[in-house]
Amino acid sequence: MRKLIDQPQHQTSDSPLLKSSKHESAVRQVAGNARYVDDIPVPANIAYACVGITQVASGTLSALDLTAVKHAPGVIDVITIDDIPGHTDIGPVFEGDPILLDGEIKFHGQPVFAVLAGTEEQARYAATLATMDIAPASAILTVDQALAVNSTVRPPHAFGQGDAGAALEQAPVTAQGHLSIGGQEHLYLEGQVSLALPEEEDRVMIYTSSQHPSEVQKLVAEVLGVKLHKVTVDMRRMGGGFGGKESQAAQWACLAAVFAMRQRRAVKMRLPRALDMQVTGKRHPFENSYNIGFDSEGNMLGAEITVNGNCGNSPDLSDAIVDRAMFHVDNAYQLGATAITGNRLKTHMVSHTAFRGFGGPQGMIMAELMMDVIARRTGLDPLTVRMQNLYSEAKGLTTPYGMTLEQNILPELISQLANSSQYWQRREEVIAFNRHSPIIKKGLALTPVKFGISFTAKHLNQAGALIHLYTDGSIQVNHGGTEMGQGLHTKIGQIVAHEFGVELDNIEVTATRTDKVPNTSPTAASSGTDLNGKAAQNACLTLKARLAALFADTYQVSADAVTFANGYVSAGEHAVAFADVIQQAYMARISLSATGYYRTPKIFYDREKGSGRPFFYFANGAAVSEVSVDTLTGEYTVDAVDILHDVGTSLNPAIDRGQIEGGFIQGMGWVTTEDLRWDNNGKLISNNLATYKIPAVGDTPAHFNVALFDRPNNEDSIYHSKAVGEPPFMLAISVWCAIKDAVASLADYQQDPDIAVPATPERVLEAITALTENQDA
Ligand code: MTE
Ligand code: MOS
Repeated sequence: MRKLIDQPQHQTSDSPLLKSSKHESAVRQVAGNARYVDDIPVPANIAYACVGITQVASGTLSALDLTAVKHAPGVIDVITIDDIPGHTDIGPVFEGDPILLDGEIKFHGQPVFAVLAGTEEQARYAATLATMDIAPASAILTVDQALAVNSTVRPPHAFGQGDAGAALEQAPVTAQGHLSIGGQEHLYLEGQVSLALPEEEDRVMIYTSSQHPSEVQKLVAEVLGVKLHKVTVDMRRMGGGFGGKESQAAQWACLAAVFAMRQRRAVKMRLPRALDMQVTGKRHPFENSYNIGFDSEGNMLGAEITVNGNCGNSPDLSDAIVDRAMFHVDNAYQLGATAITGNRLKTHMVSHTAFRGFGGPQGMIMAELMMDVIARRTGLDPLTVRMQNLYSEAKGLTTPYGMTLEQNILPELISQLANSSQYWQRREEVIAFNRHSPIIKKGLALTPVKFGISFTAKHLNQAGALIHLYTDGSIQVNHGGTEMGQGLHTKIGQIVAHEFGVELDNIEVTATRTDKVPNTSPTAASSGTDLNGKAAQNACLTLKARLAALFADTYQVSADAVTFANGYVSAGEHAVAFADVIQQAYMARISLSATGYYRTPKIFYDREKGSGRPFFYFANGAAVSEVSVDTLTGEYTVDAVDILHDVGTSLNPAIDRGQIEGGFIQGMGWVTTEDLRWDNNGKLISNNLATYKIPAVGDTPAHFNVALFDRPNNEDSIYHSKAVGEPPFMLAISVWCAIKDAVASLADYQQDPDIAVPATPERVLEAITALTENQDA
């Protein structure tokens, strides 16, 4: 037995926690040997599936002729909804998502049938050969059309504080307006893909690129008409999910499973990019309106806000998404008396779904719009208006949904960022620059983010983990979360390594599997580390208690005195290498495997009253963006971005910065160039990268500064860290505000230019024209 002499007591200096350990897959991803679903070696009898889709948005299918499909080269099998052995509806929360067309056409691009063939190319070609007799009907394609006929996927919801109507009546100044907000294509690098392997009799194994393996398991079981325990789902990593694989990965897994069981052979279904873009839902487009009252000093007094989400043809996750939009229309500001309404509109479009921020961005941007409007009407600087309307003891700390802010750090965070970014000095420089620059105009904006952390569906706020200690001291961890590039497995590895006091390379975080940790929640709502990190820690504590009891017994010390650090288990003068302790425990017949569990405390929401504490805590941040706009063309560049973001105690600063940078750039794409377009027949025409523009490396701001606001979470989250996945996305609202600021300079900052999201150069030019024409008149 080795003895450690010079490290007597608990020492965490070697812990990988709070350090910038590199992403567990970084080397493999760069080297090209990180395995994705499409890289899994496949059995010799593999076949490939594809779907044939509708070419109209609305109507009924009266006849379907699949003869040509069946006779196409290499075709093995063709199925319609009538061939599904079990449930045919795969709606994740509510019904409304038939796995294949069920008579009524719901959107352009809806899968009608599926075909299985010997190669991917054969399947994709055969899928184009069906003849469909369709009686077309008129389609609802916009929020306005849906509102006019009250077409909804779910009933509306409303909440508020005080008497907003009275506040607006009494307010010295009022303003009304509307904002059109575009959706967004997820554009995960790895498209939707599933591989189904038939096992004995009615058992099936699924490999899928999904944020929600447990839901895939459930839906595959239901579609096949078997119990859940016959279906196993494995998910090692995704090449990005961004919400697009929370509910909408299931359909492809289910279809692959149906074919696999019919044909008793391995089946892969991987959507080609243009098809992926047409058949899967996007960020919800919204049409929102506000009616606000304020005083001449720029203080908000009351607000009536309506958010209208274009949910597409089915509920999918839209109820929760529109709720989250409503929960964020205040962003960081005390709005006074409020009446907030959220409508869930049904259109003949693909069913819109989760996307980083989950409706939060489409709500939050309303708060920032309102602040800009107040600034232009009062002549105050937008930052002055923002700062003075922040939640505070003086203004009140209660949100429109009755939750009281307990750790209100934005006043300090914003002041710190305004100083470090030299906002006020740059404001003067921008004004001076614009005075002497006739064509190029600069804009500057600082906007905050306050984002609620927890699933608003309360039952999802739970997680499980499973830890195995092997006799050589190496450790396997399995947990309910999925890795999509965000670094969740790296953080979980750090947590477990820290708890056992061993090095990170001692830990293997294995693929997410429904047969290891059951009934898991989707990896979403930024809560992956919060939930699964606590569950993994919980399993560690169970195992450590067993090991400590043995150690105490062996060395006649108190179990409470036993510590795990630097690769040793120690108490008093006794220190034994971790691996040796595990070996001893094995010989002493002590179980070296344990499950862990966690559920988020404190949260509740009373939907009837529209009041509660839907969030465990808030993640905060702020960004200053500076842009240059060419007023002759509407084109612009984002020149400089300074971010100060609150991740509580950072578990891994490098990964957190990566999330902040990536989230910001993705948000910048949403507010600038990512312009979804459908034609008058409801067909998506921005269905490839030639017609849909995401930020490229050249769009990265030349000056891009990210700093972490160093303040532990005051809630008992895992080591007092905070969720980081989604909140930074909304920091990019500062880019939209900065573009408006540049345009506003043309009218001496007296008006807030009307620019829809995304603020494409075309729209910026239209706003410039409108402002200058107004001035001429
Ligand atoms: N980062 C990468 N690289 N890839 C992704 O797909 N998804 C985002 C965010 N960051 C995503 C990402 C979304 S939508 C969410 S909800 C969170 O990661 C989910 O992971 P977490 O809960 O572990 O933060
Ligand atoms: Mo993220 S939109 O919650 O998957």
